[in-house]
Amino acid sequence: MALKHCCVAGLLLLCAGMRAHGGEITPIESGLDYHSYANVDQFRVTHLELDLRVDLPGKTINGIAALEFKRLDPSANQLVLDTKGLMVNDVRQKATDVLGATSKNQTIWVSRPFHMEKPDPILGSALVIELPPSRKPVESIRIDYETTAASTALQWLTAKQTAGRHKGFLYTQSQPIGARTWIPLQDTPAVRMTYKAKVHTESGVLAVMSADNDPTVKHKGEYSFIMPQPIPSYLIALAVGDIEFMATGPRTGVYAEKPVLKAAAKEFADTESMIETAEKLFGPYRWGRYDILVMPPSFPVGGMENPRLSFITPTVIAGDKSLVSVIAHELAHSWSGNLVTNATWRDLWLNEGFTDYLESRIMTAVYGAERASMEEVLGLKALRDDLKTLKPQDQVLAIDLRDRDPDLVFSNVPYQKGRLFLNFLDAKFGRERFDGFLRGYFDHFAFQSITTEEFLGYLDDNLLDRFPGIVTREAVNEWVHGPGIPADAVLPVSSAFQPVDEARTAWLAGGVAAKKIGLGWVAQQWLYFLDNMPAALRTQQLAELDKAFGFTHTQNAEIAHSWFRLVIANNYQPGFSSLEEYLKTIGRRKLIEPLYTDLMKTPAGTVFAKRVYAKARPGYHPETVKAIDAIVNPGAAEGSTDGTGAEGSE
Ligand code: BES
Ligand code: ZN
Repeated sequence: MALKHCCVAGLLLLCAGMRAHGGEITPIESGLDYHSYANVDQFRVTHLELDLRVDLPGKTINGIAALEFKRLDPSANQLVLDTKGLMVNDVRQKATDVLGATSKNQTIWVSRPFHMEKPDPILGSALVIELPPSRKPVESIRIDYETTAASTALQWLTAKQTAGRHKGFLYTQSQPIGARTWIPLQDTPAVRMTYKAKVHTESGVLAVMSADNDPTVKHKGEYSFIMPQPIPSYLIALAVGDIEFMATGPRTGVYAEKPVLKAAAKEFADTESMIETAEKLFGPYRWGRYDILVMPPSFPVGGMENPRLSFITPTVIAGDKSLVSVIAHELAHSWSGNLVTNATWRDLWLNEGFTDYLESRIMTAVYGAERASMEEVLGLKALRDDLKTLKPQDQVLAIDLRDRDPDLVFSNVPYQKGRLFLNFLDAKFGRERFDGFLRGYFDHFAFQSITTEEFLGYLDDNLLDRFPGIVTREAVNEWVHGPGIPADAVLPVSSAFQPVDEARTAWLAGGVAAKKIGLGWVAQQWLYFLDNMPAALRTQQLAELDKAFGFTHTQNAEIAHSWFRLVIANNYQPGFSSLEEYLKTIGRRKLIEPLYTDLMKTPAGTVFAKRVYAKARPGYHPETVKAIDAIVNPGAAEGSTDGTGAEGSE
């Protein structure tokens, strides 16, 4: 991967060993995307048109991706695209694009020679297309292709794996480098494109995309979409299933399978207030509608900020809005991430750190400062836990991901440390100045993809130098490039956790019965109560907690997660059958990876983990399978992650 472009440009010898030859490390080049083969300095894709057939029983997508692009380098004659697990059948170019073409017929397409480079296990295969010279300002090619079982951004669910159980379900998770597994394109967040799509499905299922969904469309199997704002490839998203719509406001609504639709609409009823708050703080919402698609429980992330249509795990539906900060988070990405985008995955903190900060601001405005600061304190604990296990070089905001799968290097650092950095600037410069800065930042870089260094330049000009003597550039560098949490951090505190600490201490000392504590506590207090328990508890203590609070059967997936960590650490047998159910239904990586990791620490836990995982694996998303394989079967040859859910035991 560090051999960026080398193979495709025929410069293999020159580039081989470029990175760590003889122990020396080549410095990272800001703005260079080490996770894409696309030759973006020579060609830039500006628009994509998809015409796709989704075959739910056959578990394939086939069709055409037409790309419009500009040739930045007139001497360039090879267009390099990213693909992974795709079968490319034909590549054609618009006949009139070619220099000296005589045909005036815009609809004639001529075949172009192409080949696929040797696949890299992480990056996939570069698709190299030979192009004759052209003087057209915008050229077009169309690629006839199909997905395969190795298209790992796709999860195909059988009817039986859905809530409604009538129809299959398909969804995509493109971030970070999955778009190339279902569309051949320049799969780097540095490139932005508008898109249009036609999607054909069987009748009776609805297709939705990260575009202008029409809530009133008839479910006849033909759907059209337009995304008129330029977005990076990782935000292209599609879902197909037996889903219905319910409005929650004039520009907001929920798509979900019928059995969860009502509960979802109730849980997410505050979405419009969140948007209004965010608009007041960060400028207009520029995307038209904001809808939520409730995913099947196997969805690997909490939420995904697909523009105009966030994809959200059903584990957020707790019944009491206690976990809706995920919605605030995905909505906040409409500014930080979707409007101003990280140029490469090294710069992910620009997306996630800003978004965590914005999320807190939205949560404060809609649910109060107490709720927001409790969530920040929990986030800080998660960060500290991660820092204990991360190498110093992986504790920095601008992280070197060369030669690694960005999807497997996931931590709280870009999120929580990023948020702490912005909290620090906010505290130092004062709310008014910092808000002005943020708003200006979103306007200045709207619809652009930027690097850490571009952000730092803007920060210098508009905050550090504008209000001199408050924060030095050295202090900022320490935040961005140094490990750990800088000493000048302004750490969140919450007075709502004090009674929880007191109650826990008293209960542990045997001074108070469990049933006498916890009156009126909210979900965040329960999480704090459980997450800060000592490692070792007696069976009788766990039984007392369980009897008093029913943790083993809680409907709150986050509380259940914290409880199961104690269940595993203390081998509390009555909790294990619920844990098994949990692992077999939920595929959200943040919730299940720590549980598998904990289980693998003991021989009995290992036996349980392997048995349950064998049953759960066919129901997980391919990227989750990859991550859990590495935990449960470390060292095993890469297992089948074919995304069909067809293999595995049972
Ligand atoms: N964009 C992320 C999800 C993501 C990040 C997917 C990097 C792949 C690579 C999304 O906005 C996110 O951060 N989701 C969080 C929820 C949030 C409340 C912290 C999650 O999935 O837990
Ligand atoms: Zn996010």
